[in-house]
Amino acid sequence: MTASVHDLITLSPKDSCNTKLAAGPWDFDTVPGYGPGSSQADRLPDPVSRPGQLPERYQLMPEPELQERILAAKATLGEELVILGHFYQRDEVIAHADFVGDSFQLANAALSKPEAKTIVFCGVHFMAETADILSAPEQAVILPNLAAGCSMADMADESSVETAWEEICETYGVDPENTLPDAEGKLSILPVTYMNSSAALKAFCGRHGGIVCTSSNASTVLEWAFERAHRVLFFPDQHLGRNTAKAMGVPLEQMPLWNPRKALGGNTAEQLREAKVLLWHGFCSVHRRFTVDQISQARAADPGVKIIVHPECPMPVVDAADAAGSTDAIQKFIAACAPGDRIGVGTEINMVNRLAAQFPDRTIFCLDPVICPCSTMYRIHPGYLAWVLEELVAGEVHNQVSVEPEVSVHAKVALDRMLAAKPKA
Ligand code: 13P
Ligand code: SF4
Repeated sequence: MTASVHDLITLSPKDSCNTKLAAGPWDFDTVPGYGPGSSQADRLPDPVSRPGQLPERYQLMPEPELQERILAAKATLGEELVILGHFYQRDEVIAHADFVGDSFQLANAALSKPEAKTIVFCGVHFMAETADILSAPEQAVILPNLAAGCSMADMADESSVETAWEEICETYGVDPENTLPDAEGKLSILPVTYMNSSAALKAFCGRHGGIVCTSSNASTVLEWAFERAHRVLFFPDQHLGRNTAKAMGVPLEQMPLWNPRKALGGNTAEQLREAKVLLWHGFCSVHRRFTVDQISQARAADPGVKIIVHPECPMPVVDAADAAGSTDAIQKFIAACAPGDRIGVGTEINMVNRLAAQFPDRTIFCLDPVICPCSTMYRIHPGYLAWVLEELVAGEVHNQVSVEPEVSVHAKVALDRMLAAKPKA
């Protein structure tokens, strides 16, 4: 028997893949901050920024008191502070954000308040690193819980990408510094990193004629790349790379997967020579949960249902959906639907629930019956936000994310290219 749309939307949060996390992420966190699933490859912040575990009093504080304290600290800090929040963040935290958006919008937001002394980033580590690179040098960027990393970002580390690059360049017979275009005026290959990657990989792209993309501007970025190179190495998310390049007409046979544990990524030299997009073997554990079967069930229960998914979902899921797009595109799609419409969404549950509350005249539900938050994003509990804000009022900066200048300078080259590559309407 197929589930009705009603069944799909009335599953309670106890069906979540990780209920403990919802209650108290500090159970998972370690001193000085990186817990399982966070970007453990990232450099720990400078000791002067005083990383630390959440003091016990904040762990025990009732939710209403945390909310009051956050509001009071925000009021005291006034224009000195700007809080940025990603769409996947929990509501109790998003309520305090000055800007809410997708990763492209938040990168722009980090640039837009040079008068603020501190940017508190309620997102994940790679987003805070990006804000630090793009913001003014005197601004401090704080990630309230340093354990809020991204497991996808951890799937491509600097040394594996360097090794892959050398092997690839050797196969194409080009210098790994990759500075010389051929007679057609094009490079043999250039690197494209998804925003969900460490600052070191963004710097790698900056140094090798490459660029950063987000899920909202990935096709503009690939067009930019193909004007300058015959091929791209796309990391870490294979699905975003495949979905975007396929929509641009690149045949699947020209998109080999690069497995960093295998020689030539598990490919023959011939396959690499034919390739247009080399896809790194990375994925998002939240978006990988979405399946074609879930879409078929939703359509069987309600043939009029509309389906939109994030492009981090596997290709067959994107193909079976009516539309795919970044978190901002998903929000716009739902806003453009009519009252009474039913919409199944393939993305993170906090965002889906918020959209359902925002548009009560539409039926909005998550395609995945096991409600799974982005467990690292979810580590920004209001307890952490209250703590870092009250410490700021007391003149202390905790959990500052600061990228080393020699990394930052090259990463900024690739990020500036990304900012210029506007998402398509
Ligand atoms: P967006 O760029 O769509 O906000 O996505 C960020 C992200 O991490 C999705 O998993
Ligand atoms: Fe990373 Fe996936 Fe979370 Fe996005 S949803 S931050 S890709 S783990």
